[in-house]
Amino acid sequence: MAGTAAALTANSTVGDWLDHPEGGQLLRGLLAQSGMDADRLTPVRGFALQQLVELSQGAVTQDVVDDLVLRANGGVAPEDTGEVAGWRERIVPGRFDGRTVVVTGAASGIGRATASRIAREGGTVVAVDLAAEPLQALADELGERVTPVVGDITRVEDVERIVAAANGQVHGLANVAGVADDFTPVHEVSDAVWERCFRVNVDGSFRLMRAVLPAMLAAGRGSIVNVASEAALRGSAAGAAYTASKHAVVGLTRSAAFMYGPQGIRVNAVAPGGVATGMRPTSASEFGQGRIAPLMALIPPVATAEQLAASITFLLSDDGVNLNGAILPSDGGWSVQ
Ligand SMILES: NC(=O)c1ccc[n+]([C@@H]2O[C@H](COP(=O)([O-])OP(=O)(O)OC[C@H]3O[C@@H](n4cnc5c(N)ncnc54)[C@H](O)[C@@H]3O)[C@@H](O)[C@H]2O)c1
Repeated sequence: MAGTAAALTANSTVGDWLDHPEGGQLLRGLLAQSGMDADRLTPVRGFALQQLVELSQGAVTQDVVDDLVLRANGGVAPEDTGEVAGWRERIVPGRFDGRTVVVTGAASGIGRATASRIAREGGTVVAVDLAAEPLQALADELGERVTPVVGDITRVEDVERIVAAANGQVHGLANVAGVADDFTPVHEVSDAVWERCFRVNVDGSFRLMRAVLPAMLAAGRGSIVNVASEAALRGSAAGAAYTASKHAVVGLTRSAAFMYGPQGIRVNAVAPGGVATGMRPTSASEFGQGRIAPLMALIPPVATAEQLAASITFLLSDDGVNLNGAILPSDGGWSVQ
């Protein structure tokens, strides 16, 4: 490996950096300054170093990355080849041409990446979220293909406004908005956490499905993708409230898939594993954390929001033609552990 330091750039993966004799030393030294061990980077080994700037939400600055790259290359900036390590999103031009898709949770994380991909593949997106500013930023970035609707999916009036914004033409629905819990097991769950998880994750998704289905039934076609979770597949990925709510999302998906399949409407779900987004569950339970933490240390690396959007848009688009009622784990293989 000696003598290959010049190959390290901001686009090399964190894994490449850690495995490199000089790069690894530099990165470990940087972490040590903040009292952190290199193990903290295990979940993001497959990400380019550059991606840490966004993912760390300010903890790793662009200056820090630039400085690391310079030091790993003897003070000389390496040539930027434009090559990015790891997976890259590949746009399928025209895949959503002529389609209007409602995407909830579009201001952040998986919903934002999904809305963006659909718009860049020719679709019209009704982008829904509680958060007005980042939603407007998405619309400004993507232009007229995106209609932002600031609203709460748990409120019937807001759901009516969302459907109205689609002008009676809803070809697709991506129910992405959701909230996490606090890792509490049943005997510690507060009513507030339980009710919030069910209100947003279950009631909200249900209300939007109910609101868009008449237009889909009239058109004789439609595609719905609900975002479940690894917590919909097992009992060890979250607390009781989130786990139960995401199991309910699976039930909603399967029931609708069965009911509407003959009418040309496909209803599927994606079950994400760990994804680097704005969702940062906090643990309010030593008991819950004690049970879950040892298993979390063994799960596959986290994915990016764009990687989840790839799974969601696959199911939403005609590429998912023969899939109805599928619960697709998009988790790097966590579900087979
Ligand atoms: N991040 C993960 O590791 C992970 C893992 C499994 C499943 N998921 C699921 O993926 C989905 C997206 O999560 P994310 O990780 O992108 O999180 P995120 O927090 O980045 O985005 C969720 C968005 O939903 C919006 N939202 C919340 N409640 C809403 C409401 N009532 N009405 C309208 N908008 C609302 C939020 O404002 C936010 O912008 C969720 O359903 C979540 O449960 C995430």
